[in-house]
Amino acid sequence: MKLKASGFWKRFALFSAFAAVVIVEAENPYRFLDLNITYGDIYPLGVRQQGILINGQFPGPDVYSVTNDNLVINVYNNLDEPFLLSWNGVQQRRNSYQDGVYGTTCPIPPGKNFTYNLQVKDQIGSFFYFPSLALHKAAGGFGGIRILSRPKIPVPFPDPAGDFTLLIGDWFNRDHRQLKAILDGGHKLPSPNGILINGHGPNGTYFTVEQGKTYRFRISNVGLQNSLNFRIQGHLMKLVEVEGTHTLQTIYESLDVHVGQSYSVLVTMDQAAQDFYIVVSTRFTEQILTTTATLHYSNSYKAVSGPIPVGPTYEIDWSLNQARSIRTNLTSSGPRPNPQGSYHYGLINVTRTIKLVSTAAQVNGKQRYAVNSVSFVPADTPLKLADYFKIGGVFRVGSISDNPTGQNMYLDTSVMGADYRTFVEVVFENHENIVQSWHVDGYAFWVVGMDGGVWTPNSREEYNLRDAVSRSTTQVYPRSWTAIYMALDNVGMWNVRTENWGRQYLGQQFYLRVYTPVNSTRDEYPIPNNALLCGRAQRNSTTPF
Ligand SMILES: *[C@@H]1O[C@H](CO)[C@@H](O)[C@H](O)[C@H]1NC(C)=O
Ligand SMILES: *[C@@H]1O[C@H](CO)[C@@H](O)[C@H](O)[C@H]1NC(C)=O
Ligand SMILES: *[C@@H]1O[C@H](CO)[C@@H](O)[C@H](O)[C@H]1NC(C)=O
Ligand SMILES: *[C@@H]1O[C@H](CO)[C@@H](O)[C@H](O)[C@H]1NC(C)=O
Ligand SMILES: *[C@@H]1O[C@H](CO)[C@@H](O)[C@H](O)[C@H]1NC(C)=O
Ligand SMILES: *[C@@H]1O[C@H](CO)[C@@H](O)[C@H](O)[C@H]1NC(C)=O
Ligand SMILES: *[C@@H]1O[C@H](CO)[C@@H](O)[C@H](O)[C@H]1NC(C)=O
Repeated sequence: MKLKASGFWKRFALFSAFAAVVIVEAENPYRFLDLNITYGDIYPLGVRQQGILINGQFPGPDVYSVTNDNLVINVYNNLDEPFLLSWNGVQQRRNSYQDGVYGTTCPIPPGKNFTYNLQVKDQIGSFFYFPSLALHKAAGGFGGIRILSRPKIPVPFPDPAGDFTLLIGDWFNRDHRQLKAILDGGHKLPSPNGILINGHGPNGTYFTVEQGKTYRFRISNVGLQNSLNFRIQGHLMKLVEVEGTHTLQTIYESLDVHVGQSYSVLVTMDQAAQDFYIVVSTRFTEQILTTTATLHYSNSYKAVSGPIPVGPTYEIDWSLNQARSIRTNLTSSGPRPNPQGSYHYGLINVTRTIKLVSTAAQVNGKQRYAVNSVSFVPADTPLKLADYFKIGGVFRVGSISDNPTGQNMYLDTSVMGADYRTFVEVVFENHENIVQSWHVDGYAFWVVGMDGGVWTPNSREEYNLRDAVSRSTTQVYPRSWTAIYMALDNVGMWNVRTENWGRQYLGQQFYLRVYTPVNSTRDEYPIPNNALLCGRAQRNSTTPF
């Protein structure tokens, strides 16, 4: 069991030497963390594998923070290949340089380190970090992130007796390099070998609780491709938070968690003093993979017993109805003192509609995936750096269209331009028979609608313009659409991607360049002094500014 991460903060101070080089609000606390990335043997499904460890752990330690904290995270890459961490759901306002994806940040070379400076501005909730390059995510390197409310901001439920991170995900026994080679060879990923809970296979881990008390479980799907169902034998779950939004506190028997998503539930230990199964199983698959952990009552007199509770398997309507039932509690507070419902997103006029259709096809005999016909290929220079240093020929704004064109799939470094402070509607259309999961870096968006079939302007009539949930990752059901509203209030170069990792690697992503002509740190922070330079930006010095 991990979860004992409190000793990781090296220092906690109001002011520090870093204040001089980092432009952040000085009154907010700093938290310092070193993350040492190494290879190490792991045996999650009983087979020895080379895992990516963080401070010797798999999964890595939780990153703890409080709303508005400045996080100074020094990542030491002790692998023999370039490495980057990214922060799923952490918005990094005005600061896409810290996003840690290929398009924003140069990879940390082997043997080198890079210090990320993030601020968890105006955020609360449960998120995770993960390695963003190659197929590193298939070897570990991920961990939980929690952003707690500031002391004076009311949280809409009593303090739980304990707070657990559960990182669940599909798992492959093959090495991440082998998986990458399969994709590079133009093939699809194989099926996973199993499901892990906090790095452990079946019966591999346990959570000790006290009878009668209530606990928070922060569940994130850190896997590569499978939607998962989460449930606890004999216990109901009260949903309280989704990716930074306090939700209506609805009771569920089981919860679908799509790739890249995070949920918090409260569970009251109201059963007889024994052990129970915690179950995670794949959704929408022919062969259902299931794994279990143990919920151990501290006064338990009986081991887990009885059949493992079954979950939904292929029922899409069940999942769709559950998704629609997940809504914002408008009267409870979020990161700020005013209630979450004070921002009336449904009254804002949409300035632009973007319709994204994802496809799968062969290009030059190799499997690729695309959005609006463009299959993303990385450039030789991070796009954000090319933009900053005005290096031409790296990417072209407008290289992906706002609507599907019906063209055959082609490769390009796709970047969509958007104006700062506009309010956009994005419709994800899924014409395939699989569940997709879409994520936007730098943002949370309102999931205003989802339904089967093809989206038409009439679909807007069924939008939830009142209490839709605001989050950063949404599923799109098979042969269905999902519509989101986004207030483009964060300048930068932001990755829009499928969370299905093989598809992301083979091109199902692009960058959204949210732009303002105003040159002011009120809108965007300057390039960090420690920015690594690579590709064609290597010749540019970062000083003076
Ligand atoms: C990281 O871990 C490696 C291997 O255990 C060790 O040699 C190295 O000193 C560590 N580096 C830091 C900065 O902790
Ligand atoms: C590497 O770590 C040192 C502290 O050990 C820090 O001063 C330096 O800025 C880091 N390098 C980068 C590129 O962030
Ligand atoms: C381990 O878990 C599996 C299901 O995941 C169950 O069938 C099996 O009985 C468990 N084994 C033990 C020894 O508890
Ligand atoms: C919504 O939040 C308010 C204020 O925190 C709380 O009193 C109420 O019970 C919540 N309602 C639901 C349905 O969760
Ligand atoms: C939205 O547009 C309508 C009609 O053009 C206008 O009357 C209204 O004031 C606008 N609302 C906002 C919030 O801008
Ligand atoms: C960065 O370097 C490139 C190539 O040497 C050059 O064209 C560009 O003007 C430089 N940009 C800045 C801001 O110095
Ligand atoms: C932006 O403003 C900074 C500070 O005022 C200045 O040093 C820099 O040259 C400006 N950059 C551009 C591209 O105008």
